[in-house]
Amino acid sequence: SARVRIHHLQQAKERGEKWAMLTAYDTYSAAIFEEAGIPVMLVGDSAGNVVLGHTSTVQVTVEDMLLLTKAVTRSTTRALIVADLPFGSYESGPQQAFETAVRLMKEGGAQAVKLEGGVRVAPQIKLLHDSGIPVMAHVGFTPQSEHALGGFRVQGRGAGAEQLLADARAVQEAGAFAVVLEMVPAAIAAEVTKELSIPTVGIGAGVDCDAQVLVWPDMAGLNGGRVPKFVKKYADLRAELLRAAQEFAGEVRGGVFPGPEHSFD
Ligand code: KIV
Ligand code: NA
Repeated sequence: SARVRIHHLQQAKERGEKWAMLTAYDTYSAAIFEEAGIPVMLVGDSAGNVVLGHTSTVQVTVEDMLLLTKAVTRSTTRALIVADLPFGSYESGPQQAFETAVRLMKEGGAQAVKLEGGVRVAPQIKLLHDSGIPVMAHVGFTPQSEHALGGFRVQGRGAGAEQLLADARAVQEAGAFAVVLEMVPAAIAAEVTKELSIPTVGIGAGVDCDAQVLVWPDMAGLNGGRVPKFVKKYADLRAELLRAAQEFAGEVRGGVFPGPEHSFD
């Protein structure tokens, strides 16, 4: 079937139909998620943590994002592919954001980009939107600002609710087609979702968002460490992969693999 477009996401909100987004960083996972009917995939800079082994998303480069984005766009035809603008590649101004977004679309093959921030990045969102680049915004807890925000903390509580609302309004006004709400109290996320005409995509933001996103290695249980409270594990791929690797190693040590059926005459 045809490519998912941003107007389909807008129509889904108007009809009250929720949708799911997953991160994707490589060719097999992206193809599997497309087969599963995931309409939107995010080549997230969470790859810094879950693919590249960094301690945060801060270390991720545009070149890293290009490599991952290409792998995902090569193996998908239907899902809308959104690529993250990494830390340091858009903050200095709209022109910088434009140049990075163009690379992710032209070289990477992405159909949209995502950046973090509200009021402060509205000029960037506006230029991208005016240039014909669909932009997903990201407010609430923004991992690239981990050090400024003092760690992984819920945003928008108490007096923070007004700032969150202002940020959400600003990104919509600037032309974002959707906005991620990360680690926001469920009631505040519900209020933002009701007030905005564009879809909200929640992660740790309660059930009332228009859509939900999870980082796939977290939701599939590939991560052996602790995962945030907002993650639900839908599989235990780590255990399965561990078992397979142990069994392979054991069969090699025991002279069981390869069998005659895996050998040539
Ligand atoms: O990089 C990422 O995976 C994200 C999502 C958690 C929204 O930005
Ligand atoms: Na991200």
